[in-house]
Amino acid sequence: ALAIPLALIAAYLLGSVPFAMISSKVFGLADPRTYGSGNPGATNVLRSGNKKAALFTLLGDALKGWLAVFLAQQAGFSDLAVGLIALAVFAGHLFPVFLKFKGGKGVATAAGVLLALDPLLGLAVLGTWIFVAFAFRYSSLAAVLAATLAPVFQVMMHGANGQTLIVGVLSLALIGKHWQNLQRLMAGQESKIGSKKK
Ligand code: G3P
Repeated sequence: ALAIPLALIAAYLLGSVPFAMISSKVFGLADPRTYGSGNPGATNVLRSGNKKAALFTLLGDALKGWLAVFLAQQAGFSDLAVGLIALAVFAGHLFPVFLKFKGGKGVATAAGVLLALDPLLGLAVLGTWIFVAFAFRYSSLAAVLAATLAPVFQVMMHGANGQTLIVGVLSLALIGKHWQNLQRLMAGQESKIGSKKK
């Protein structure tokens, strides 16, 4: 009876591990919260100019999301419990206990979560991100559009079901975290992928 609450706490703590911070330490970079957008995430670490550090951040933040869901599935939890564990690891990244609850925007972690939860859906959403990112060169725009389409793809693939709710919550939280990016995009002030910024 305790298994699910313990798994939720473990998933939240795993999600709280900030790979932008770890990666920046390992590669000898400044705290990503002090430059660019100030976001502890792969896009902002890339603004340091260190591509390896950005890639390490991206993979670490994605892997933790994937791992939490994968382990929950392997443990034989119900779909509902797996969905809640997906939200818990995601919440950990957005509101990490280790960073005074000021975390990242959840793009990499959501990708990892979706790829584990539903590989085909994950690939469709990831494909959307990659397409928009290459076409327009804005990481945030790619994330917001991919998150907007995620519930649409989910319903197209499976019809509205419990998973729609999980994906919907994930998308809404992710889009909410991109509020300032949306304002910058509309003002024409968003920085493009790979452009360095102090
Ligand atoms: O990785 C999150 C991305 O969508 C936006 O990041 O640093 O441009 O706010 P950033």
